[in-house]
Amino acid sequence: MSANLNQTNIEIDDPNFQDVFTNLQGNILKGHGRDHSRHVFFRFIGNSDENCRWVEKFASKITSTLGQEQQTRQYKAGGRHQVFVNLMLSCSGYQALGIKQKYWPQDLAFRSGMKDLQVRYDTVPRGDHQPKSNPLNDDVQQWESAFRSDIDGMILLAYAGDSPSETDQLLADKVTELKNELAGIAEITLVQVGHVMRNDKAQVIEHFGFVDGVSNPKFFFSDLNEEFKNGGYSRNDASASLNTVLVKDPGGDGNSYGTYVTYRKLQQNIKGFWKKLDLLANTLSELGQQKVDAEYAGALCVGRFKDGTPISEQGNDGWSNLFNNFNYDDDVDGLRCPFHAHTRKTNPRGDTVRQFNSPPTIEQSRRIVRRGISFGEKNLAPDSEWTEAGLLFISLQASIVDQFIFMQHTWCNNEGFIRKKTGIDPLVGQLANGETPQPQSWPGKWGNGASKVDFEFSGFVRNLGGEYLFMPSIHFLRHLSTLD
Ligand code: HEM
Repeated sequence: MSANLNQTNIEIDDPNFQDVFTNLQGNILKGHGRDHSRHVFFRFIGNSDENCRWVEKFASKITSTLGQEQQTRQYKAGGRHQVFVNLMLSCSGYQALGIKQKYWPQDLAFRSGMKDLQVRYDTVPRGDHQPKSNPLNDDVQQWESAFRSDIDGMILLAYAGDSPSETDQLLADKVTELKNELAGIAEITLVQVGHVMRNDKAQVIEHFGFVDGVSNPKFFFSDLNEEFKNGGYSRNDASASLNTVLVKDPGGDGNSYGTYVTYRKLQQNIKGFWKKLDLLANTLSELGQQKVDAEYAGALCVGRFKDGTPISEQGNDGWSNLFNNFNYDDDVDGLRCPFHAHTRKTNPRGDTVRQFNSPPTIEQSRRIVRRGISFGEKNLAPDSEWTEAGLLFISLQASIVDQFIFMQHTWCNNEGFIRKKTGIDPLVGQLANGETPQPQSWPGKWGNGASKVDFEFSGFVRNLGGEYLFMPSIHFLRHLSTLD
């Protein structure tokens, strides 16, 4: 019997889901929580039978949803640290394994791959469907060579040991072990190192220095309960049904589900970002009605202050800065948090309902699950621009086209979302090569529409490459050679 994917607030121990969770890879419904990772990209070189045999064997090392929970419980009971493992495949990976097309995941973006700039996706929500040929405006010529060449799959290894040296050693050993077992089967095209960065309160931050990973859809009741303790959920329901992130695995059995993965290596220009924020702050102070600093200007770009406090709520004191129980009902004209702010573009929290009269469920169905991790130097104040620093953006979703691509293309890159002349997302919005972004409009005083200031802010994040992948069920990976 299939699981009901419309369900919300399930529990990991739910007897109806035990077979599903044994087959479902970990890190989907809940993050794996380790601070260090290696993303091992590979390309098959063996014949399809040999490739299948290796995958079937490797499948026993993958951490399932239940396995991840057991690891957590064992660790809390005084047990040792354990490695976490995911395996994901691109569409060319399915081909190299000789899997018949009827067993391939169906999403059009997955089938085409991220490098295909010709394919047309239907990303316009309201009828006038005019798909653009390159919805992400990527410039593949600028990608790192490992991403320009074929990627058949990626193995994610994650670990957090007692010391950095133990962690590094263990992950290096695991990569070597992988290299050895892949000899004659696949070549490793890239080992991308990722590591969590934390502020002085041990909260996760990204390279511009802002707390990250605060707002994510929640699938388990226990996780929603955490959200409740952290400020409630009366104004923002973070719970999400399983079909936000899970689809039936076409190659698995009745209890087999998987998820689509968007991987993008996003480089951040930290020095350039803060220099431009200084300029924005000076301009706002001069032309607006309020003296502001670069940190405040940064909060207008991100939608939250560095400590996580939503800028739409900054007038209220006394609650956790990781507060997620907010919406924009008291800021319908974007005078506290501008419409273009990154968090407002990527989660409009009711704006589309107000603006287009579309059902709230449609807006919520665009949500993605973020499982990214930072890469590169930990220095948050480098001397030069475009240093080796950024975010290994990983989003999980039930549909790449309707969730990630829609969010990036129809919201972040769209100057007319949510209203005419809103401008692009100042963090991640990108126009096609040669197009010049229009200035965004910034409130010259918090909550006051009298003094709006036009200022163009973008171009401090660039994509160094990526791929669309599928994280199949463990059942499918274990039984490749038995598929008809
Ligand atoms: C280097 C690139 C990026 C940086 C530095 C960045 C940074 C941040 C920060 C600081 C937050 C606020 C904290 C939180 O709510 O977790 C956030 C939230 C978010 N970001 Fe990004 N982000 C980046 C790329 C992206 C991309 C490419 C997307 C999707 C197209 C995206 C989607 C989201 C979403 C959905 C949220 C949560 C919004 C909410 O629910 O309020 N981010 N990001």
